[in-house]
Amino acid sequence: MSRHTPSMSVMVAAARKAARGLQRDFGEVENLQVSLKGPANFVTAADKKAEKVLFEELSKGRPGYGFLMEEGGEIEGADKTHRWIIDPLDGTTNFLHGIPVFAISIALERDGQLVAGLVYNPVTDEMFIAEKGQGAFLNDRRIRVAARRELGQAVVATGIPHLGRPEHPKFMAELGLVMNEVAGVRRMGSAALDLAYVAAGRFDAYWETNLAAWDIAAGIVLVREAGGFVSDMNGRDTMLATGGIVAGNEILSRKLGDLLKKAGKPA
Ligand code: IPD
Ligand code: CA
Ligand code: CA
Repeated sequence: MSRHTPSMSVMVAAARKAARGLQRDFGEVENLQVSLKGPANFVTAADKKAEKVLFEELSKGRPGYGFLMEEGGEIEGADKTHRWIIDPLDGTTNFLHGIPVFAISIALERDGQLVAGLVYNPVTDEMFIAEKGQGAFLNDRRIRVAARRELGQAVVATGIPHLGRPEHPKFMAELGLVMNEVAGVRRMGSAALDLAYVAAGRFDAYWETNLAAWDIAAGIVLVREAGGFVSDMNGRDTMLATGGIVAGNEILSRKLGDLLKKAGKPA
């Protein structure tokens, strides 16, 4: 059983409330698939609605905390030591296409340090939570990163840059290196869930670049508290600032990070 702080209870309650709306809207999206225009506007509205619920619930539970949210941006609070970092819907493309792989992601920062993270997939009802020093949990069951040490046995997740993103050649070089060394590469479409799955030992490792703080803040706490390691593309701790991330157990994350560094260099 997880014993969590009152702050985590506030996070869980907020996520569950926002999730009810997302789930209703996801059901509707499935019906809208057949229309040519598709459900894009509807999804944007669903995303904003979920963020509003999270903002209201977290503000009620912890008055004065600041926010960094995907839609609303930075909102300064009276309390300068605490900040919520929120993605109300991570995996928008999946949601839009009726693919049930998306999540709400909430992290809490105290004095610039990530101290709590929650990633919740409403469709599978999987609630991943972690607080600094307390371990990581999936629906109250303790989770740990996988123990595999060899890339050759590892299933590795990533994110593939799409239309309008600048890093295509770099990604192709990275993928070219990684796919030659690992047992399998996966692309789920939600960075928050990718990290939650690493924490749960489902994925052995994960890397992606050009992410935003709200995509990864909660997942970073999950992986660390599950006994794993997280760094940026240079083995440093600046994931939120650089948007690059490599995660896994200590050995695999280092091996993957070393391999990825070769992508920038001529063969
Ligand atoms: C996206 C997802 C995806 C990642 C993208 C993110 P969104 O977030 O996390 O897995 O590859 O780069 O932008 O747009 O669905 O909130
Ligand atoms: Ca996101
Ligand atoms: Ca989002």
